[in-house]
Amino acid sequence: MLLENKVVIVTGGGQGLGRAFALRMAAEGAKIVIAEINAEKAEAVAEELTGLGHKSLALPTDVSDQDSANAMAKATVDAFGQVDVLVNNAAIYYGLEMKPFEEISLQEWQRLMAVNVDGLFLCARAVVPFMRQQGSGRIINMTSGSFHLPVPGISHYITSKGAVIGFTRALACELGEEGITVNAIAPGFTMSEASKVLAGPELAEAIASRQAIKRSEQPEDLVGAMVFLASDDSAFLTGQTLTVDGGTSYH
Ligand SMILES: NC(=O)c1ccc[n+]([C@@H]2O[C@H](COP(=O)([O-])OP(=O)(O)OC[C@H]3O[C@@H](n4cnc5c(N)ncnc54)[C@H](O)[C@@H]3O)[C@@H](O)[C@H]2O)c1
Repeated sequence: MLLENKVVIVTGGGQGLGRAFALRMAAEGAKIVIAEINAEKAEAVAEELTGLGHKSLALPTDVSDQDSANAMAKATVDAFGQVDVLVNNAAIYYGLEMKPFEEISLQEWQRLMAVNVDGLFLCARAVVPFMRQQGSGRIINMTSGSFHLPVPGISHYITSKGAVIGFTRALACELGEEGITVNAIAPGFTMSEASKVLAGPELAEAIASRQAIKRSEQPEDLVGAMVFLASDDSAFLTGQTLTVDGGTSYH
């Protein structure tokens, strides 16, 4: 197993891609902390993992709140003794309304940045002191293929995902000497509940037809890349964004 006894925090692990990452990483031997703003969903995924015989903990967390992020890191170490991997997956994506940029209010823009950008910063800052003590760690940030191939109507989201790539590179060069790697995954349009709400089946089919692999991307298509970036196999790889989109963008 590639993640035997690793302690992994998955932010926003209560549904969608986060849940898929949690299930697969647990199957690879990891102990999983579901750090999620929706306490009921966090509990449900943690129970699902426990039912499958894995070690898991639900931690209701708001990644955009400094105290909450710090409490998440401390509670993880209190429960499992260490923190090896942070998956910065939480974001405002579900329920995103597509609209021209002038119709996005400043409040809406700032709330999205607070979760999608500040959240990464706060969670990384909360876990790094523990990783530094251990002399090892993995931080994996979720960006989006929409940064490379933008679409109209979600300018705040696309901007936030560009910041994720910038933060990934900046942090990688600060933490490399301490055995901590920082990478990002850029999925294509993936059929999570959130994507199904955002766009209908016609758009999903149109997107799939532009891929080299002509079927809709599923959350499970991303878990192999996540396990690799979390494992010891990726020890010399940092600052990178791995695009997993069925061959839509080549760059
Ligand atoms: N699904 C896609 O097509 C796609 C494509 C590219 C990138 N992504 C990225 O992958 C990640 C997961 O996507 P998804 O489709 O599962 O989205 P999602 O919206 O279903 O999941 C996000 C999770 O984050 C949680 N969350 C929101 N705000 C939070 C906060 N302040 N603190 C803690 N948790 C919070 C939500 O409750 C939810 O469980 C996101 O970062 C998203 O931007 C998704």
